[in-house]
Amino acid sequence: MPEKWLPPIYWDGEAVAILDQRVLPHREAIIRCTQLNQVVSAIKTMAIRGAPAVGVAGALALALGAHNLKTSDPKTFRRQFSALCEKVKVARPTGNNLRWAVEKVHSVLAENPGAGVPKLQAQIRKAADRILAEDVLDNQAIGFHGQQVIPQGAHILTYCNAGALATADYGTALGVIRSAYAVDPSIHVYSCETRPFLQGSRLTAYELACAGIPVTLITDNSVGSLMQQNKVDVVVVGADRIAANGDTANKIGTYMVAVLAHRHKVPFYVAAPRSTIDPTIADGQEIPIEQRDPREVTHFLGRPVAPKSVEALNPAFDVTPNSLIAGIITEKGILKKPYGKSIRKVFKT
Ligand code: MRU
Repeated sequence: MPEKWLPPIYWDGEAVAILDQRVLPHREAIIRCTQLNQVVSAIKTMAIRGAPAVGVAGALALALGAHNLKTSDPKTFRRQFSALCEKVKVARPTGNNLRWAVEKVHSVLAENPGAGVPKLQAQIRKAADRILAEDVLDNQAIGFHGQQVIPQGAHILTYCNAGALATADYGTALGVIRSAYAVDPSIHVYSCETRPFLQGSRLTAYELACAGIPVTLITDNSVGSLMQQNKVDVVVVGADRIAANGDTANKIGTYMVAVLAHRHKVPFYVAAPRSTIDPTIADGQEIPIEQRDPREVTHFLGRPVAPKSVEALNPAFDVTPNSLIAGIITEKGILKKPYGKSIRKVFKT
């Protein structure tokens, strides 16, 4: 296990350093980005992944991009920076945090009407650093609120990786688990491997092992059998985008887990900051679902497993309807049904 825990993304002087999650847990490699395009590429290739971490990466990419713009003319700077924002915003389509972070950093232009280029660059950097710092605080608050839904000595099932690696630090669903473990070391976690990118076996198991939290790795298709044997007390997962009515997009397979949890009366919770909630879309039907390279399914560690002639589908996310969700754990507290009302309320606070 690593001597020192490395956050998924941080500043290394004027460069953005990204811990390459494609080679974890067996190798710790840092991608040192001095250009916005390098960060965008790290997002697309999932060297950095997880909706909040992608949002933070987008913000830091824009600070890098703003710093590298050579013009001293504010008008030109504003036009060029807006173009960079459009480029970063589309790096991955499903996670709301990227869109949210880009719009937040872009709003620096409107908030500083008469500013010169150096001031705009400094304000953009400040806005990006605030997004990173606030994400850590939000996750700690999610952990604090979420621990109350974890029964004493619970067996908790989680899916994909919604941990420190998927955020600026601490994690959302894994933040709830870390906070619960801090008060009750008798809890135990089931981590689903999460085909095809294996975020559960490579990243969640790694994080929990590093933290000394008891974890058992399971195949995605063994969830039903475990629940049938009453071996799961509660499910906590992360989210990529939550619609105004509470419908939630998360890693492909999450809906399957939610249906099984409903069938076996296991409470199913979503943990996510408000930056993951998209109040501009009414329900889950409107959430864009990323379709990734089919080779992530037909190949394993780069080697073909399926016959060459066979096609594969590779949607990266699915949508769990609000009816299957027992609560949405945010930094402002746990939202309850009807989610339309509780989401409107939490955006007012
Ligand atoms: O494709 P990924 O690895 O970016 O998908 C990540 C997830 O689905 C996470 O559960 C979600 O982003 C929440 S991360 C706190």
